[in-house]
Amino acid sequence: MKIFITRKVPETGINLLKENGYEIDVSPHDRVLSKEELVSALKQKPYDAVLCLLTDKIDAEIFEASPNAKIFANYAVGFNNIDIEEAKRRGIVVTNTPDVLTDTVAEHTFALIMAIAHRVAEADKFVRDGKYEGWAPELLLGTDIKGKTLGILGAGRIGARVAFQGKNGFGMEIAYYDIKPNEAIEKEFQATFYPSVEGLLSASDFVSIHVPLLDSTRHMINTSRLAKMRPTAYLINTSRGPVVDEKALFEALRDGIIAGAALDVFENEPKVYPGLEKLQNVILTPHIASATLETRSAMSTMAAENIIAFFEGQTPPNAV
Ligand code: GLV
Ligand code: GLV
Repeated sequence: MKIFITRKVPETGINLLKENGYEIDVSPHDRVLSKEELVSALKQKPYDAVLCLLTDKIDAEIFEASPNAKIFANYAVGFNNIDIEEAKRRGIVVTNTPDVLTDTVAEHTFALIMAIAHRVAEADKFVRDGKYEGWAPELLLGTDIKGKTLGILGAGRIGARVAFQGKNGFGMEIAYYDIKPNEAIEKEFQATFYPSVEGLLSASDFVSIHVPLLDSTRHMINTSRLAKMRPTAYLINTSRGPVVDEKALFEALRDGIIAGAALDVFENEPKVYPGLEKLQNVILTPHIASATLETRSAMSTMAAENIIAFFEGQTPPNAV
C-alpha cells in the first residue's frame, strides 16, 4: 500500500506505517502545497491513502487526482478543510485526531487567558524594550482570573476540559452555550447553561470559543454580539478563525467595546487582520494550540492507526 503524506509530520506515525509494511512518500517541501502541486504529487503514483493537514483543501479535484485513495486521514481534530459530502458521495473515508489533543488545546487556552489577564506579552515587550525603571504600584495592572466567569462557547471535548481547568485550577464560575445542554459539565463544574449566545456573552468575563467551523458558526462572533460583551471582558479563540468576524473584533478592541482578545487562529491564515498586531490588548499565537511534542506525536500515531485499521478491514476508530 502506498501512502502520500502532504507535509512532514512527527515520525511516530510514519514509523508505525513503515513497520506495518506501507510505502510512504512525504512531500519534499516543508510547506503548504498549492492545489496544483498537491494534484501533481498525487498523480505520481496510485496512492491508496493520503495523510493530509488542516492547511490542505481537500475537495473533488483532489479526489479525482488520487482515484485509488479510499481514506484521507486528517492530521487535526477539525476537518472543515475537507469536503465531507463529496467524500461521502465517493465512498471515501475521512478520519481526524480527537481526544489526544484535548488537554493540550485546553492548556494553550489557559496560557492565553493567563497571558491576556496578566498582560504577559505586553510586560515582556516592556522589559525587552528597556522601559523597566523599577517596581511601581500601578505598573501594568492586570485583572484576576479567580472568581471570574468563564463563558464557554461550545461545550464539546475541548470546551469541557477548559471548564475543568477553569473551575478546579482557577476557581472560576463556569457558564456555557451549546446547541444542547451538557449535563456532565453542569454536574461536575456547576456550569450554568445559556440557551443563547448573547446571554452567555453578557454574563462572561472571559469568553472562550470551542465550536467547530460550520456554516452555522461562521462569524458567530460579529459586531452586534461583541457589543453584548462586557467592556471589561476578554475573548479567547483557539477554534477556527472564521468563527470570528476579525474586522469586527479589531474595531471592538480598538474602540474599547471589549477589554482584550487572545487569538490562536485567524480568519485568513496566515494573514492577520491589519492593525490587530499594533494593539496592546491582544495576544496573537500562530495556530499552535495543539503544538507540543507529545501531542503532535500522538496525532501522528493516531492518523497512522486510522489508516492501518482501514486496510485491516475495520472501521477506523476516528472516522468522522
Ligand atoms: C487544529 O487546529 C486541529 O483542528 O487539530
Ligand atoms: C511584591 O513583590 C510584594 O512583595 O508584595
